Amino acid sequence: MTADSATEMSSQNVMSLEKKYVLGTYARAPFVLDHGEGCWVYDTDGKAYLDCVAGIAVNALGYGDAGLEAALIEQASKLWHVSNLYSTAPQVRLAEQLCEKSFADKVFFCNSGTEANEAAFKFARKWAGTCLGADKHVIVAFTGAFHGRTYGALSATPKEKYQAPFRPLLPGIQIAPFNDLAGTAKMMNDAVCAVIVEPVQGEGGVFPADPEFLQGVRALCNRYNALLIFDEVQCGMGRTGTLWAYEGYGVTPDMLTTAKPLAGGLPMGAVLMSQRVADVMRPGDHGSTFAGSPLVASVAEILVRRVSDPQFLACVAESSRYLLDRLQAADLPHVTEIRARGLMVGLDVDVAAGSAINAAYSQGLIVTSAGPQTLRLLPPLIITPKEIDMAVERLGAALRSL
Ligand SMILES: Cc1ncc(COP(=O)(O)O)c(C=O)c1O
Repeated sequence: MTADSATEMSSQNVMSLEKKYVLGTYARAPFVLDHGEGCWVYDTDGKAYLDCVAGIAVNALGYGDAGLEAALIEQASKLWHVSNLYSTAPQVRLAEQLCEKSFADKVFFCNSGTEANEAAFKFARKWAGTCLGADKHVIVAFTGAFHGRTYGALSATPKEKYQAPFRPLLPGIQIAPFNDLAGTAKMMNDAVCAVIVEPVQGEGGVFPADPEFLQGVRALCNRYNALLIFDEVQCGMGRTGTLWAYEGYGVTPDMLTTAKPLAGGLPMGAVLMSQRVADVMRPGDHGSTFAGSPLVASVAEILVRRVSDPQFLACVAESSRYLLDRLQAADLPHVTEIRARGLMVGLDVDVAAGSAINAAYSQGLIVTSAGPQTLRLLPPLIITPKEIDMAVERLGAALRSL
């Protein structure tokens, strides 16, 4: 069996070739996915799974969305990629939409959440260096944060397992205690150029920031003339029931990083920023060959228009309430705590998350983890009440089987 006869490959073939040829940096699920529709994915044996992970908060409109598909096909027949040496209308229209629908004045496009955070760090240091001097270069991040796995982002992701094999890390990044304003205040001084925080920590276990904490961090940034960066890679773009998570907190950042759902499943990231940051950036300061291609941007245009529709967002908020109600009412075995903000739910369990995830697969439900004993649900934003009922039933059956 060679890899080019992909359509005829059995799941066993896929998994054995994968073991042989694909670098093993992921612990993969014990099935091979073939196609999807709405909130459902199907494996190569035809088994259906209700997907409450959505490609890790990416597939906001689920699978097979007709509008995204039409945009992709139309643009695919026109122009895919030209690099950022040339202007294209889809990129510019998308940038306009993102600015019109946020605090931002300018957008920088990239290809992932990690890249967006790397770019934000560079922009912050250039801003501070230009306006306030080279000594102002410290970036403060938080305990429990996840900002990505390249050197800058990894250095702001204080998890020993991720950092230890790759030291030395980027200098000038300091870690403050999440949701602890007094502790954070102790880390602040005139050398700090930026503070980066997830309004809702995702990978760290689904921990929403307290509103007073984010408000206090904003005030500290103002006091020390530092930029506030919100990493909304996971919690942004509709997931919490507002277009941006910051809207629900009433705290406005100076930069915001977004990615996962931005182009409906195609790779795209972006940094949204206020004019004072944009003012210091010059041609050549940063860049990306692929970023903001007309193909990806034309799909993102549709995604952003659909998700930012107030009716759509009202539905997400309603579904979020319903999911949380159902989870709380279900009295699920092994669940010791439920945390949620919008359609971003963490369930602490008194068993290994991995065994609960495998039990869920057996029930035709896809969930993931956020830590060794935390399950995480990130369903497509289009999940229906009936599908929420099914998800909670299947999760209950899975947990009862343990
Ligand atoms: C909050 C947050 N920031 C950054 C990233 C990194 O994004 P990517 O995997 O697209 O590079 C993630 C990914 O999980 C994330 O959740």
